[in-house]
Amino acid sequence: MSTTAPGATPRHYLMCEPTYYTVSYEINPWMHREQATDTPRAVDQWRRLRDVFVDLGHTIDLIDPVPGLPDMVYAANGATVVDGIVYSAKFRYPQRQPEGPLYEKWFADHGYVTHTAQRVNEGEGDMLVVGTVLLAGTGFRSERAAHAEAQEAFGHPVISLELVDPHYYHLDTALAVLSSSPSDPQIAYYPPAFSAGSQSVLRQLFPDAVIANGEDAAALGLNIVSDGQHVVHAPDARHLAAAVRERGYETIAVDTTELLKGGGGAKCCTLEIREPLS
Ligand code: ARG
Repeated sequence: MSTTAPGATPRHYLMCEPTYYTVSYEINPWMHREQATDTPRAVDQWRRLRDVFVDLGHTIDLIDPVPGLPDMVYAANGATVVDGIVYSAKFRYPQRQPEGPLYEKWFADHGYVTHTAQRVNEGEGDMLVVGTVLLAGTGFRSERAAHAEAQEAFGHPVISLELVDPHYYHLDTALAVLSSSPSDPQIAYYPPAFSAGSQSVLRQLFPDAVIANGEDAAALGLNIVSDGQHVVHAPDARHLAAAVRERGYETIAVDTTELLKGGGGAKCCTLEIREPLS
């Protein structure tokens, strides 16, 4: 077990301020229309998250929020970007479908090559880069066929993982990338969120992974953002934060409880733009 984190590398993130955030429909078990949302509080929590990234030296770009698209704050779902190549999102539910073209347009307007997805996939919510491979979730949102499409778009191996608990409907709610360093990739995950076969795949590929417990998972504690040294996480994921510190990472707790009402946390709000390695 490694107890030294690989070290921070500067990151480039795309985010969307939750100006129009609310819970007006229910497409995951966390969302309850009758539970009030506090949009100004969501904005404050989101700004704090953005400020933490800026203080860590990361570059933040912003996409304009659009009225009537309350989930647009969950930017991670907007696309997957690897080596400067953009694989667009194609959302499962009609309520979010307009977001795919909006995010793709943002990238096209900023000079990126985009691949328009033919298959249903919810961006980085279900596709996480670890070293030189992608781990991809299916079962609730993204189609397995999208994994093959992404593999062709990026030219990196894509490993499919089956999600089985509706609370952990996106891969980034059940598995976190602590280090995407090709020489020292590290993840954390919550095994019960995965099928038996996928648990076996994860054990083989990542025998040293940090294992989250039920409380970590229930706080959406796996929805973390790591730059290889600093791990931004939900305050209630105490066991996970301690385990991550034992591996040599520095943890930064950021309260995203207002955004949890929509079923998201820090990672959901953060779309990583990975430029080509030069
Ligand atoms: N309400 C959103 C949905 O159900 C939450 C998305 C969270 N994003 C994420 N990357 N897990 O689609």
